[in-house]
Amino acid sequence: MKTYEVRTYGCQMNVHDSERLSGLLETAGYARAETGIPDLVVFNTCAVRENADNKLYGNLGRIASVKATNPGMQIAVGGCLAQKDRDTITQRAPYVDVVFGTHNIGSLPVLLERARIQEESQVEILESLEVFPSTLPTKRDSVFAAWVSISVGCNNTCTFCIVPSLRGKEKDRRPGDVLAEVESLVADGVVEVTLLGQNVNSYGAGFGDRLAFGKLLRACGDIDGLERVRFTSPHPKDFTDDVIAAMAETPNVMPQLHMPLQSGSDRVLKAMRRSYRRDKYLGILDRVRAVMPDAAISTDVIVGFPGETDDDFEATLDVVREARYATAFTFKYSQRPGTPAASLPDQVPHDVVQERYDRLAALVNDVAWEENRRLVGSTVELLVADSGGKKDGATHRLTGRARDNRLVHFVPGDEPVRPGDVVEVVLTGAAPHHLLSDVPPTTYRRTRAGDAWEARQGQTQVRSVGLGMPSLGVPEPLPASGSTACSC
Ligand code: SF4
Ligand code: F3S
Repeated sequence: MKTYEVRTYGCQMNVHDSERLSGLLETAGYARAETGIPDLVVFNTCAVRENADNKLYGNLGRIASVKATNPGMQIAVGGCLAQKDRDTITQRAPYVDVVFGTHNIGSLPVLLERARIQEESQVEILESLEVFPSTLPTKRDSVFAAWVSISVGCNNTCTFCIVPSLRGKEKDRRPGDVLAEVESLVADGVVEVTLLGQNVNSYGAGFGDRLAFGKLLRACGDIDGLERVRFTSPHPKDFTDDVIAAMAETPNVMPQLHMPLQSGSDRVLKAMRRSYRRDKYLGILDRVRAVMPDAAISTDVIVGFPGETDDDFEATLDVVREARYATAFTFKYSQRPGTPAASLPDQVPHDVVQERYDRLAALVNDVAWEENRRLVGSTVELLVADSGGKKDGATHRLTGRARDNRLVHFVPGDEPVRPGDVVEVVLTGAAPHHLLSDVPPTTYRRTRAGDAWEARQGQTQVRSVGLGMPSLGVPEPLPASGSTACSC
């Protein structure tokens, strides 16, 4: 049996697609590589970062020498950078066997076979999506939490963003298909789903129902056994009160909202072609908190967009202070080739961007830490995320996510706890990016998800690095749950 490894870069969309690539390959007879050198390495790439292409070719160069001493090994490159660079990849790295794009991930097994038989590289890039990746087989990384794509692509034109040109215009899945997928996931033991779209709030435009997203949330509320529903990313321009009501009135929709800000300056928002303004944005947060006072709100912010002045930046700091974010993903603006903003005048000098970035990061930390400290002493319900174990002879803390998605490290106590189980803990400490509980949980609940995790033990485990090959360096970090790296 041939073995494979998928290396994933970028956002949750790519994580979702990589699970499909794994499912496709296993259906085609491959097994996930556990040890040794895989017969196939797939790079699922992202194009968002500056120099993403140089990093890819560096990684490919390192793996080329492994391939040279392992006849029959194949290398495939897919995802957003492949969609963007197409033929260039096989020109610069002729040892790559297959290049495929974001719209045809289902073609990978056939292209690999064709490359093997014809003994030449295969490049296949489609201009638009024909089959939703969600309809393909999947091999999920987690047994208890799952990504569920509700739409692919984006109709917006944010000037810093390359995603629409790589993922295409928004295409919505039908609600019945989404719900059927969620039901089948729950039947498999999943207790948490995250609905995924570049802009979940425009969901339904494709089939003529502007209220479709709120209805979808409410329909998820009717699925027995589904304990937690999240979504990412919303867009302030399309975020309507019916969605706020659906969140507040549907008990399994979690009190958490990732609401991308990008800038607190109306002038910069306009230049970014983000069609909401500061007051509208803060008004949304007020209305969310009016009905969900404990909602944890997170965001994305870009620092140093072309033309950003000190006053613009101060306006961003003001919004961060006022919004009281639980966390924020902060990005230094970088020129992304192929985006309108890359050719704007008044690019902000690197040292100014860095200085602003440091100030913003410090403020975000302060605010998040203050918000976390307010929670010390309260009891929270956690969905356990790891199995813990012993380290240096001592039991180390386990990790779980609270309903508001905050990360909590806790001591397990005497009861065995499995990933996917649910515990309640009293919070005893706070840090900017997590909370602590240094006393044993007050309640334990064994779940179907924990059973599913236990059943998977002994089966093939999910690993994507360290397979006996030279290290390819640290992949682009995946943002924590709640953010798309595309900075929507
Ligand atoms: Fe679309 Fe998000 Fe990119 Fe804007 S930032 S164009 S909303 S994917
Ligand atoms: Fe593509 Fe996501 Fe990167 S949509 S460009 S992988 S951030």
